[in-house]
Amino acid sequence: MIILKTAAEMDAIRPAGKLAAEILERLGKLIQPGIKLKELDRQAARMIKAAGAQPTYLNYRQLPDQPPFPGVICTSVNDEVCHGFPDQRILQNGDIVCVDIGLRLNGWCGDTCRTWGVGDISPEAQKLIDVTRLSLDEAIRTIKPGGRMGDIGAVIQQLAEANSYGIVKEFGGHGIGKDPHESPFVPHYGNAGTGLELRAGLVFTIEPMLNAGTDHIQLKADGWTAVTADGALSAQFEHMLAVREDRIEVLTALD
Ligand code: CO
Repeated sequence: MIILKTAAEMDAIRPAGKLAAEILERLGKLIQPGIKLKELDRQAARMIKAAGAQPTYLNYRQLPDQPPFPGVICTSVNDEVCHGFPDQRILQNGDIVCVDIGLRLNGWCGDTCRTWGVGDISPEAQKLIDVTRLSLDEAIRTIKPGGRMGDIGAVIQQLAEANSYGIVKEFGGHGIGKDPHESPFVPHYGNAGTGLELRAGLVFTIEPMLNAGTDHIQLKADGWTAVTADGALSAQFEHMLAVREDRIEVLTALD
């Protein structure tokens, strides 16, 4: 069931999105060779608490038999697609890392992610990051109130295919509000003019995961971490959006 938000509710979600974006920005400044993923997680926990918010991923379960998620942020390194653990691993020069943050502020959820290069990265890695970010930005630029969900996927698919990147299909964007994951599912592939109408009151994420190889992924034995099946790099960017009567509002933009 899709929970459409009123204009006042969309105003109330805005601070949660903004806080998530601000904390993500500050975490990004800490990313350099030698930092431990666990340290990023500690800093995220501290910043969320200091802002009077609560983490939504810590101890989260998507499936009943899944172990609880062991961190405040997801840190997905190199061939990890999403839901990587912020553990004792140390970032190395040349790595790429996606940091995904989820929090709740005044009962409303915020969710955003970005991929960074660590130190000096290869041109191939930089291109994957740039195209993934561009695919999100272009999708946001394209959609309008009254458009269709397929408009999002079409833009992302076109850019991914033009660069021979695999689009992860098992995970997508999602509705968001009082719960971190609500309906609808937002695919990152598809046909323009098809799918759900983008009606005022819809609040959802777009979060393309593009692989430098095929679209095949595998779940690691930890029950959470998705990795590319061929070991190729994967990048992801995520924004939270609200469909207003006359425009699309990016809730996790910094300005
Ligand atoms: Co999300």
